[in-house]
Amino acid sequence: MSRWTLLEADERLARWDCCDVSIAIIGFGHIGGSMGSLLASKGFPVVGIDKAAGILQAFEAGECPFEEPGLAAVLARAKERHTLRVTADYTEIKSSDVVLIVVGTPLDEDHGPILDHLKSATRSLGKVLQPGMLILLKSTVPPLTTQQLVRPILEEASGMEAGVDFGLAFSPERVDEGNVLEGLYGIPVVVGGVNTASSELAVEFWTRTLGVETMVVPDPTTAELVKLADNQWIDLNIALANEIALLSDAIGVDAMEVIKAANSLPKGQHWVNILYPSIGVGGYCLTKDPWFLHRLGAQRDIDLQTPQCSRAVNEQMPSVTVQRVISCLRAHQKDPAQARVTILGLSFKNDTGDTRSTPAGPIIQMLEDHGCKVQAYDPLVSENQARALTGSAIAPDIQAAVEGADVVACLSCHEEFRSANLSQLKERTRENCWFLDGRLGFDPLSVKAAGFDYTAIGGHCHAGD
Ligand SMILES: NC(=O)c1ccc[n+]([C@@H]2O[C@H](COP(=O)([O-])OP(=O)(O)OC[C@H]3O[C@@H](n4cnc5c(N)ncnc54)[C@H](O)[C@@H]3O)[C@@H](O)[C@H]2O)c1
Repeated sequence: MSRWTLLEADERLARWDCCDVSIAIIGFGHIGGSMGSLLASKGFPVVGIDKAAGILQAFEAGECPFEEPGLAAVLARAKERHTLRVTADYTEIKSSDVVLIVVGTPLDEDHGPILDHLKSATRSLGKVLQPGMLILLKSTVPPLTTQQLVRPILEEASGMEAGVDFGLAFSPERVDEGNVLEGLYGIPVVVGGVNTASSELAVEFWTRTLGVETMVVPDPTTAELVKLADNQWIDLNIALANEIALLSDAIGVDAMEVIKAANSLPKGQHWVNILYPSIGVGGYCLTKDPWFLHRLGAQRDIDLQTPQCSRAVNEQMPSVTVQRVISCLRAHQKDPAQARVTILGLSFKNDTGDTRSTPAGPIIQMLEDHGCKVQAYDPLVSENQARALTGSAIAPDIQAAVEGADVVACLSCHEEFRSANLSQLKERTRENCWFLDGRLGFDPLSVKAAGFDYTAIGGHCHAGD
């Protein structure tokens, strides 16, 4: 059996020099598929492994199965270069030098992590693992998963030893949807290997493929906690912004003026950096990663408060938003049960089509509970996804969406909405129509100049002004 020493790691690097690194990516979804397309567009041979037929068919046909800026161009380049293959067959991994695992790690109903996808992918990988391979786990996981779950499964299925016969490291994915390609080049990659050789080879991989800055931490568990610490910081920061916004609205000041000025304070090595308030936090990361932290604490009898606090604040924002819509309607003596509300944007974030845990879902539900007639439009969300989210009418275009509206609520400010002619839209609405700027993407004066009444969470001008 081969002994995977540092020297042999060096020899492997020399081989990468002359014939490039061949890469397998298990889990070819939003993150894995974007990263695989980018690496293949740069000329690296990539095989994408996924169990979802729809994902495989789309990439096979050269089509993006999800909305991500720049992805279509890199996928087209990869296709031209014939460097990207996709399959459900794990034996195709055997000729790869580096294997990235990027399968989903969702939450169950009790806020516990579901690691079934990861277990199954790791078991299948273990059966085809070859001596000298480097395995990089990128899925977001509870700390200790690399050492206590992935490592034993790989070792048992392969009969080999991590750090000796093959390399193993955790290297968290830190990009965010809508900025994935930019993030892959720009965000430093954290690496925590099971031994020095694994970390060094991982650093070499990221340097040679994406040329990105790397930061080595002592072990995989540290790297796992880095990812969760980042996302807990973001969720808590947004919760702070949201509470400042609620208070600012109540006392009649503009929250963004508060936040901009507050952010000018130097603190530690950086500045105070309060993010934007909004109608809610959604997506696949901030809604679950704080719970991974909380669960880990609970398993050690530590009742962590920050995950519960940030989740509680951010999860109430859809309800706050609906209360705002209702008070806006009442400010114009309109009965919510007779009102029409247009939802522009169903995805959880500007310029993406991802509806996972989107605040638009509960907002629509609660508006309907108030008797409002809701009509929605999102150019980036497929009709099937939109229908899975709401039983409400899906408009074919923005003009149809705003027809007869009493409130136009822009919940994700896609480019099409930001560049829309608001005066023309206003002509299609009812009298005294409100425009709710859900993500502070519009200039309030322009919205008012178009004839709308403007409101926003943290935007000062709201019902009663
Ligand atoms: N989406 C983000 O913005 C983001 C950012 C940073 C980190 N992450 C993390 O990255 C991971 C992946 O996220 P995503 O958004 O790409 O998820 P995704 O659901 O879009 O993709 C996961 C893919 O894995 C596939 N899969 C599941 N089990 C499999 C198996 N046994 N074999 C092969 N394929 C399998 C699924 O079919 C799916 O296509 C998650 O852990 C997530 O927390 C996501």
